[in-house]
Amino acid sequence: MINFKMKESAVKTIGVFTSGGDAPGMNAALRAVVRTASYYNLTCYGIREGYNGLIHDDFIKMGPRSVKNIINQGGTILRSARSLEFKTPEGRKTAYDNCVKHGIDALVCIGGDGTFTGAKIFNEEFGIKVIGVPGTIDNDIFGTDNTIGYDTALNTAMEAIDKIRDTATSHNRVFFVEVMGRDAGFIALNSGIATGAVEILIPERKDSLEDLFGAFIKAQNAGKTSSVVVVAEGEKLGNIYDISKATKEKFPDYDIRVTVLGHIQRGGSPSCADRVLASRLGYGAVVGLMEGQNKVMAGLQSNQLIYTPIEEAIKKHNEIDQDLLKISEILAI
Ligand code: F6P
Repeated sequence: MINFKMKESAVKTIGVFTSGGDAPGMNAALRAVVRTASYYNLTCYGIREGYNGLIHDDFIKMGPRSVKNIINQGGTILRSARSLEFKTPEGRKTAYDNCVKHGIDALVCIGGDGTFTGAKIFNEEFGIKVIGVPGTIDNDIFGTDNTIGYDTALNTAMEAIDKIRDTATSHNRVFFVEVMGRDAGFIALNSGIATGAVEILIPERKDSLEDLFGAFIKAQNAGKTSSVVVVAEGEKLGNIYDISKATKEKFPDYDIRVTVLGHIQRGGSPSCADRVLASRLGYGAVVGLMEGQNKVMAGLQSNQLIYTPIEEAIKKHNEIDQDLLKISEILAI
């Protein structure tokens, strides 16, 4: 831990906001940002509704007590938005004028790749320092082993699929369960392994109906009387209803049901892992700015706080672990 009392901080006044899809742990990250800023005598403004608040001057000065009792709350007390106005040069100019008005010299941007893209453009156009904190349930951000919210969402999905399995088993049914992940299969792969899915369909792998049907035949031959297939929202083979329809055509005797878990996965009190991750990254974002970091994202890799250029965090992607795919196949026999 650096003793900033010994040296001059590179920033004096920071703004913090949450943007894009909410994720459990965003509040814990906000709390860490506000309290770390206060500890080091920085002025801190919370900005409501992401980039919309920057444009509409929705700033609120925050101190340690403004973030009391939120570490355990899902959602985000600052609220969130996917701002269309910020995509326009006029919107960004107004946002910049508001930053100047409040004397903001750096922004802590809590969100996913859309949030980071906005931050990068804003920094390039106006020079306001930016640092990203990865908050999204999808876990699709390069530069951190886990994103804030992912662990909680994974556990929510696992608990829901466990419940679905009770019905699948009791009625000898096949269930297709869709989990979130617009472009990424991390939730699907890991919740699928954790719940013993017979097959897991993710966008990172080229899946085929033949392979899926092969998995059903294998399961049948192994004496299984029910199956759960976990499908990532972004699966390229088709949407879950089409996949289910094709399965029914191939196996008319199957009693098939489809469940889309949807936004239930985004809500709820954050897990311990997400609270600790969010606390470490919120702290890391503020001390990073104080040390002179800019246009980077704070992440945890192998339990170490690291800073990744924001372009890389946006452009690169965490690879799906091929061993996990193999393990899911082996354990489904
Ligand atoms: O990015 C997080 C995420 O939950 C995706 O998994 C999902 O596709 C998307 O957000 C849904 O967004 P919205 O809440 O705007 O429908």
